[in-house]
Formats: sequence, C-alpha cells, structure tokens
Amino acid sequence: MEEQVIIVTGGAAGIGGAITSELAQRGASVVAVDLNEEAGQALAEDSSGRIAFLQGDISKSETAKQAVDLALSRFGKLTGLVNNAHASRQKPLLEHTPEDWDLSMGTGFQGTLNFMLAAHDALAGTGGAIVNFGSGAALEGQRKQASYAAAKEAIRGLSRVAAHEWAEDGIRVNIVCPLALTEGVAKWKEAHGDQYDEVAAKIPLGRFGDPQKDVAPVVAFLLSEESRYMTGQTVMADGGTIMLR
Ligand SMILES: NC(=O)c1ccc[n+]([C@@H]2O[C@H](COP(=O)([O-])OP(=O)(O)OC[C@H]3O[C@@H](n4cnc5c(N)ncnc54)[C@H](O)[C@@H]3O)[C@@H](O)[C@H]2O)c1
Repeated sequence: MEEQVIIVTGGAAGIGGAITSELAQRGASVVAVDLNEEAGQALAEDSSGRIAFLQGDISKSETAKQAVDLALSRFGKLTGLVNNAHASRQKPLLEHTPEDWDLSMGTGFQGTLNFMLAAHDALAGTGGAIVNFGSGAALEGQRKQASYAAAKEAIRGLSRVAAHEWAEDGIRVNIVCPLALTEGVAKWKEAHGDQYDEVAAKIPLGRFGDPQKDVAPVVAFLLSEESRYMTGQTVMADGGTIMLR
C-alpha cells in the first residue's frame, strides 16, 4: 500500500489503532486522529515517519479539516478515509439523556459526516475509498444500544447515498461491521457479562476477532484496488455472527 495516504479516526487505540498499525506495516502513510494523545504519540514515534498523529475531537468539523490538511501537507495527497471512532453509552432507551444522544450521534454520525465532507475533494482527486463503521448490535437492534444503533444505521444510510452520488467522482464507500476483543469490549464484558456470553455463544467461528489479524485486513482490502468493483456494501467481519442476504 506504498502509494496510499489514509486518515483513520480513533486511530490510536482499539480497532482503529490496529488498523493504523496494519496499514503502516503494509507501506501506507497514515494520519491517525484520536483524543488519546499518549497512545497516538506512541504509535507515531514507533513508525519511522509513516504515521502522523493529530489529537482532536472528531465530532468537531475543524478536526476533520485539520486532518485532511495534515495528510496533504505531510504526505502530499489523500487516498483513503476510515471513519472508525464512535463513543456511546449503553442503557435502556427510556433512560437515555440528551447528552447520551449527543455523544453517540456527535461522534458516530456527525464525526463520520464531518470527515467525509472534508475529505471529498482530496479523495476525488485520487479516486479514493472510504470505509465507515457499522455494527451488528445496530443491525439486530440489541437492548441498551438505542443511541448507538441509531447512529450506526444513520452511518450505513449515509454511506449508501454517498456510494451512489460520489461514484461519479471515483470515490467508493463501504461499511465494515466488526466484532473484536478490544479494551473497550473487555470493559463492556465486565459491566454486562450476560450480554457478552450471549454474543460469544452465537459466533459461528467460535471466538471474538483479533483487531489486527481479523478486522484490519478487511479494511485494507476495501481501501485497495482489489475491491475496486465494490461500493455501498456492508461487510461483516464478525466470525459469521450475522449473515447478510
Ligand atoms: N469492538 C467491537 O467488537 C465492535 C463491534 C461492532 C462495532 N464496532 C465499531 O468499531 C469501531 C471501533 O471500535 P473499538 O471497540 O475499537 O472502540 P474503542 O472505544 O476501543 O476505540 C475507539 C477509539 O476512538 C477514540 N475516540 C473516542 N471518541 C473520540 C472522539 N470524539 N474524537 C476522537 N477520537 C475518539 C478513542 O480514544 C479510542 O482510541 C467503532 O465504530 C465501534 O462502534 C466495534
């Protein structure tokens, strides 16, 4: 992926950190955007200049513009965008506060939209690709995931419209729904052990995925020429938990 320059939101830790590392190992240059300065700086320092870190909140449109500017000034172009970051709180629908809705819609939906809009012109210049993140929890409408599921399905709807409208600009837009044992999922397992056991029991491949070995390669594929005839698709990287028809 030597010719590629890719922005990864939430790119310092969890699945995003694994995607940043995997893309850099495959030769791409990466702008990782994250709130977590310590993890982001550590990734950048270990990367021999391949990873540039931007500390920022993806729910703010200025952050998206700064990330695109950084990709262009540091690496000269932009060929890919991975909208991975999404913060939310799990609780019953009737207990959701306005702040809970703002957090999930602001980071998940608005963050994705901010980066897509900011990156459009640069990606149109290179025939670039966008990978957005959905979730099996949203496809299924799992309990306690109201604001998360709503934002995730809004992201899938937005992605399909952009896949139609931006095809003529040479931009492909696909969605990945992962299932991986990150630190975030480990915390969720602690707080909601019953839900964790339920999900693990339903994974046909019998385990939660590894962020770098099971999810990042699917994202790399969707950013590469290998997937040039795919757009608007939802790709499940979830051990077969949900089989879309
Ligand atoms: N882990 C799973 O099994 C799973 C399942 C379905 C969907 N997903 C989706 O995959 C993506 C990554 O999941 P994860 O488990 O790695 O998440 P995570 O919470 O472990 O990591 C998210 C990263 O985003 C960063 N971040 C959070 N809010 C931010 C903000 N406002 N601005 C900038 N950075 C911010 C965090 O600092 C963190 O580094 C998310 O879209 C998530 O919804 C994950």
